[in-house]
Amino acid sequence: MAKYLVTGGAGFIGSHLCDALIARGDEVRVLDNLSTGRRENLASEVEFILGDVTDEDAVQKASIDIDGCFHLAAIASVAQSTEDWVGTHEVNLTGAIRVLDAARATKFPVVYASSAAVYGDNASMPLCESDRASPLTPYGADKLGCELHARVASVLHNIPTTGMRFFNVYGPRQDPRSPYSGVISIFTDRLSRCLNIPIFGDGQQSRDFIFVGDVVRFLIAAMDRADTRAAIYNVCSGQSTNLRQLAQTLATVSGVTPQIEYLPARQGDIRASLGDPARAAKILNVRAEVSLGEGLSQTVSHHVTTTLDTSKAAE
Ligand SMILES: NC(=O)c1ccc[n+]([C@@H]2O[C@H](COP(=O)([O-])OP(=O)(O)OC[C@H]3O[C@@H](n4cnc5c(N)ncnc54)[C@H](O)[C@@H]3O)[C@@H](O)[C@H]2O)c1
Repeated sequence: MAKYLVTGGAGFIGSHLCDALIARGDEVRVLDNLSTGRRENLASEVEFILGDVTDEDAVQKASIDIDGCFHLAAIASVAQSTEDWVGTHEVNLTGAIRVLDAARATKFPVVYASSAAVYGDNASMPLCESDRASPLTPYGADKLGCELHARVASVLHNIPTTGMRFFNVYGPRQDPRSPYSGVISIFTDRLSRCLNIPIFGDGQQSRDFIFVGDVVRFLIAAMDRADTRAAIYNVCSGQSTNLRQLAQTLATVSGVTPQIEYLPARQGDIRASLGDPARAAKILNVRAEVSLGEGLSQTVSHHVTTTLDTSKAAE
């Protein structure tokens, strides 16, 4: 049994990670400012600290007596990073450095969320970790900054660090109300309310979707093997799905035929993003196992249940 700090643990991915750690008997402490996360996402066994990753005291206190930290807290909105460049930078990069700094004393391992956004306009298919990073947004640049500082933490201070480049993560608890939310949670929500599905452009743009339960397995495998080589891994399925196919699969699992509304293409939208999962498979012995149909089915039934619960509570 170990004790882990999960920053951003009340959020979408973090809360699933907390559930998995508790299920395997670990102790979990969460540091979260609840800017997008929700207290209700967390099981009662979790020790919760309301605080900010940019706050040195809060991070130092949250780091006492831990065996490792999963650093997931971030402003996960690419759009917000372009609007509030400095503000998101303070959370997304300075916050990460705060966590690495807190690890200097006891050298606890840090597994942190990076992003496929570090590849930016690199059009290689599929993208390997050794491919050139070429971020196009402050969000992507800060995630790349996290990787560079994590490397420095490992080289200079012997802190084990591992960077996880998440591709498009989806699953239960992803908030569809956020305008920046993943396309799957938005499609699921609109379909359940019999609203049309907006697709920008021709719908041929493709993404590498990975189910949140698979992401959790990647994170735990990375923590179990973290060392000072400061490794970076793609966290992806290696499967390409375009938005038309996505809408079709969602229709099949939910039994609702969607009305698709094609809107003008958005400027700056990346045409295709596909990761190569080979490195994580080889070194961490972990790969995505949940098919898109199965993952969507779980996402839809969770959405239906929570929507029903919310409308009952409102009666
Ligand atoms: N969801 C994806 O597809 C995806 C893709 C690439 C990378 N990521 C990264 O994965 C991580 C988790 O993302 P998510 O999708 O679960 O998003 P999320 O918004 O649900 O989770 C982020 C959590 O961090 C918390 N947080 C934000 N700012 C904070 C601060 N200053 N101090 C303390 N807590 C703070 C939020 O309240 C929330 O609970 C993030 O680092 C994100 O950048 C996510």
